[in-house]
Parts: sequence; structure tokens; C-alpha cells
Amino acid sequence: MGKIKTIGILTSGGDAPGMNAAIRAVTRAGIYNGFNIKGIYRGYEGLINDEVQTFSTENVSGIVTRGGTILKTARSKEFMTPEGMQKAYETIVKEEIDALVVIGGNGSLTGAWKFGVEYDMPVIGLPGTIDNDLYGTDNTIGYDTTMNTIMECVDRIRDTANSHERIFFVEVMGRDAGFLAQNCAIACGAEAAIVPEEATDVDQLAQFMSRGIRKSKKSCIVIVSESPKCGALYYADRVKKEFPEFDVRVSILGHLQRGGTPSARDRILASITGVGAIEAIKQGQRNCMIGVRNNEVVYVPFSECIRTDKRFDKRLIKVLDELSI
Ligand code: F6P
Repeated sequence: MGKIKTIGILTSGGDAPGMNAAIRAVTRAGIYNGFNIKGIYRGYEGLINDEVQTFSTENVSGIVTRGGTILKTARSKEFMTPEGMQKAYETIVKEEIDALVVIGGNGSLTGAWKFGVEYDMPVIGLPGTIDNDLYGTDNTIGYDTTMNTIMECVDRIRDTANSHERIFFVEVMGRDAGFLAQNCAIACGAEAAIVPEEATDVDQLAQFMSRGIRKSKKSCIVIVSESPKCGALYYADRVKKEFPEFDVRVSILGHLQRGGTPSARDRILASITGVGAIEAIKQGQRNCMIGVRNNEVVYVPFSECIRTDKRFDKRLIKVLDELSI
């Protein structure tokens, strides 16, 4: 591959607050360093369908404050097929794109990796997901904002829970990872968290109830990681059946967790990694995600960052346990 002149950028998978700040950073740092930047709309779908626009610095003006993604996003099934990838590559050739920056989570970066290897082109990833489940970076873009959003919601729920002396099961996002649930439980002063990393059975809940929560407290909040089989509704039902004396309610926060203006931390992380992506391309890096670990910018090979074993610090379980008496 010859000299890199043009860099394509896309957002893919679930949107996350701070993606716009990342788009802005890649665009501005790219132009600053003499590259042409092309925005690709609707993730890999836009790459397949040639929805591409040349970006100038004006295209990314005023977006650092905005949630969502100006490039739109999609979860493309077609891109995961050889035919879909081939169509995407045809757009790359037609648009004369020499390197690609993909902002997204686990699935999106898996696609980025396959594409980069298959077509031998430089592909760089930025960690854009509220779930914080990408290995090799301390935080992902969107995670901090979402924690703050959840915290604000749960604080409100606490007011009504206190007033009615109720138990609330609050379901939060996170797919297969408990980062949001565990940390938000600590931040909100919740009484417990139910996370995919730790088995929770009804005996544990019974033990928790028998701590005499209602004797010493006015309300009880349990933060539950979403799960198709045993989310907040499942646990609430079981508690209702086995402890009919408790007044139980469920609140599923849903997609409101993904919207909103990004926090300072997310804007800064997006800006640093966005600039890092351009630097990585200049250095000839490929097939890696730009992360920040211990305040250092790091290049994490795609094969590493999509590992499924990134787990929150187990010491947080003890913190929550000791503080929720
Ligand atoms: O990956 C981000 C995320 O918000 C997950 O936490 C959640 O499981 C999923 O996306 C929801 O996806 P969708 O918006 O497609 O329903």
C-alpha cells in the first residue's frame, strides 16, 4: 500500500455519548496533519452502500457537546458476510480511502479486524460503547456519561422509593458486562447489584432481605444488569412471590441511558483517542484500537481488545457490600 492520503471514518453498533467528539477529533487532527477525511454514514451499511461525504473542519463544528453520532450508526448483518465485505471494499476503492477509523464496541471492532486483515488495509478502532467491555483500555467513550445518567435516574427513584418504603429493582444496560450496574450501585448508594459476572440465586436474595433492610432503611434499591433471561422483572417476581410482605417495583431505564450530552471525561477520552488514531496511522500502525490505560495512550491489537474477559475489579463487590448495611 502506498502513501496514505485519505482516511475514512464511521461509527458502528450502539451509539455512545462522546462519539461526536471522537468524529471531530479524528477529522480535525486528520486535516491538521494533511490528510483528506471522508465521513461514512450508517456504519458498515454506509460503506456497503457508498454513503460517503468529504469532511472539512466545518462539518464537525459545534458537535463536541452533542450526544448520539452525526454519522448515524447501524448494526450491519450484511457486512459480516464475505459478499457484504466485498461490497464495502469496492466503496473503499471507489472513494480512494487508504485507511479506516471505526468507532464502536466489541462487534464493530471485530468487523474492523476482519476487514483490515482480509483486504490488507490499515484499520484503527476507537473504543465507543457505554458498556466499557473492551479489553486494554481503562474506560470506553460513553461509559462515564451513562454512569452519570443512571445515577441521576436512580437518585430520583430513591425519592419515591423512600416515600413509599418500597424495594426497587432498577435494570441498566451493559449487555454481558456488569461495569455499569456495579459502579452505579456504589455511586447511588444502592443496597445491591446483580451482575452477569457473579451468580445470584434466590438464596442470596433471601439473605439480603433478611439483613433486615426494611427495619433499618426506608427503601431498598437493587441495580440489575440487563439480561434476556433474568433481568429486573425476573428478580422482582421471585421476591414478590417469596417475600409477599415487601412492596416491590421495577424500573427499566432502557435507551435513555445512551442519550444526552457527553461528560467532560468522555469528551476528553474521545479527543485524546481521536488524535491518537491519526498519530497511529502516521506511524504505520494497523489492526489496533487506541485506548487509554493508566493515563497513557496505548495501541491494543484488535485480537486483544475484543477478548470477552474484561471484568470490573472484584474489590468493588466488597465496597458495595460493606457500604450497603
Ligand atoms: O452495546 C451497547 C448497548 O446499549 C448494550 O448495553 C445493549 O445491550 C445494546 O446496546 C442494546 O442495543 P439496541 O439499541 O440495538 O437495542
